[in-house]
Amino acid sequence: MSQKFAKSLLITGANRGIGLEFVKKLASRVDILFAGCRKPSEAKELNALKDAHNNLHVVEIDVTCEKNIQACIEEVSKVCGEAGLSCLINNAGANKKPDNKVTELSLDDLKRIFSVNTFGPPIVCKHSLSLLQQAAKTHSDQIITKPLIVNIGTGLSSVSRMNRDMSCYYSYNMSKSPLNMFTKMLSLEIEEDGIDVIAIHPGWVQTDMGGSNATLTVQQSIDMMLETLSNLRQEQNGTLINFKGETIPY
Ligand SMILES: NC(=O)c1ccc[n+]([C@@H]2O[C@H](COP(=O)([O-])OP(=O)(O)OC[C@H]3O[C@@H](n4cnc5c(N)ncnc54)[C@H](OP(=O)(O)O)[C@@H]3O)[C@@H](O)[C@H]2O)c1
Repeated sequence: MSQKFAKSLLITGANRGIGLEFVKKLASRVDILFAGCRKPSEAKELNALKDAHNNLHVVEIDVTCEKNIQACIEEVSKVCGEAGLSCLINNAGANKKPDNKVTELSLDDLKRIFSVNTFGPPIVCKHSLSLLQQAAKTHSDQIITKPLIVNIGTGLSSVSRMNRDMSCYYSYNMSKSPLNMFTKMLSLEIEEDGIDVIAIHPGWVQTDMGGSNATLTVQQSIDMMLETLSNLRQEQNGTLINFKGETIPY
């Protein structure tokens, strides 16, 4: 079995796609694993995994609802106790295809996508912070050497790399750029607490969002992201990197 990745970990959007694969790969590498999803009773694959892994807790979290986030973190806190939470992966994400012309924008879609991609991670972090700070006091015996917040970002959020050849989904790309600023700001705010924050692009991945033409299988993406997250360097704190650990300029 591979070395323990973290003592405890919460991931959002864990019922399918990238989130579900993280759970599959981490179930035997994390002591207490919280798989967050909007509808636990309908999360068949997660519930099947729970039967095989008694360290796996399937918890309800809708990242667009602050009360729901708060209730989820309270549940996590009860299980983790004084040891706190070692790792948070803000993975839940939403997309709409296609809106590659400004005339195709819809205010309702923008609000929905920004609610998940832009506003969700900061509010989940707000409520998880004290648990991560708690973990920083007792952190030991795991691959990630400090408590870690991972924001699943995208190369499409990079303003400096945007060009006509890149896929232009206005609402999605715009919603992910603020996550970079949040990652940077939060890393500065909490570096003295001994907590790292990283934004990571998983590659173009075969999921409901990425579609079947994507270049990476979900297994390939998660394997490479876990390798990269296991070998983070301090100077990468607060940056956007890809699944291979290469810097993506904001
Ligand atoms: N696939 C790619 O090529 C790619 C590339 C770059 C970045 N990403 C990022 O990777 C992350 C995962 O993407 P994916 O490809 O796995 O997408 P996916 O297959 O579409 O899965 C999205 C996940 O997010 C959840 N979600 C959506 N709205 C939510 C909400 N309000 N609260 C909680 N969970 C919510 C979904 O839950 P429900 O089942 O309840 O809807 C689902 O579990 C996203 O942040 C995405 O932007 C993906």
